[in-house]
Amino acid sequence: MSTRYIQRYTDNQRINHWLVVLLFGLAGFSGLALFHPSLFFLTQLFGGPQWTRILHPYLGIGVVLLFLLMFVALRGANLWRREDTEWIKAAPELVLHGDESGMPAVGKYNAGQKLVFWSMSICLTVLLLTGVLFWQAWFANSVPIGLQRVAVVLHALAAFVMSLTAVVHIYAAIWVKGTLRAMTQGSVSSGWAKHHHLLWWREKVGRPE
Ligand code: HEM
Repeated sequence: MSTRYIQRYTDNQRINHWLVVLLFGLAGFSGLALFHPSLFFLTQLFGGPQWTRILHPYLGIGVVLLFLLMFVALRGANLWRREDTEWIKAAPELVLHGDESGMPAVGKYNAGQKLVFWSMSICLTVLLLTGVLFWQAWFANSVPIGLQRVAVVLHALAAFVMSLTAVVHIYAAIWVKGTLRAMTQGSVSSGWAKHHHLLWWREKVGRPE
């Protein structure tokens, strides 16, 4: 690969990401179908109400297992650093007025991306732990009904926060020009890396500019 482009993800990481997206979409739609009668029509996508109810927990577990692979690979690069706090303080000026002058140099991920990563990690953990508690086919019989009711509310809340987080993530991936190719082709332009992730660019290119 020429030095105009820098590798950001391996093929396996990209396949992993898009499988997470696919299963997350299926888990989300099957969950919505069970959430409210007005969304019941979505059960038709999954072969009817019985199949939707059977499939939803397995789709959810699939998302969690696939996300776990991403988590293991990317958690180190998403740890909070001093410049991330500076980035958060300067972010309103960037978002509201497009003023980038106060933004500090950051590594592979900026603070916004890190918050998305940790929000997704926490929400998926809550979704798994609470979902198991009222999974009628396997565990719910041995769980007190009061606890199941609390679990249902927390499950819906975590799904809501997770969906909002995904919307922010998708919006940012499209809004920041040149980002999408990181997940479609695995590489980003050197200019993109230098502009948005200067510390990471220095690591990759080996120049302290
Ligand atoms: C159509 C929907 C989506 C698009 C277009 C998209 C796009 C992207 C892109 C371009 C990146 C690379 C960003 C970079 O390296 O700077 C990325 C990273 C990532 N995406 Fe997505 N994504 C989508 C949906 C999702 C969903 C639904 C999830 C989780 C359930 C997810 C989880 C992640 C994670 C964990 C990363 C790594 C970022 C980090 O570690 O901080 N994505 N995505």
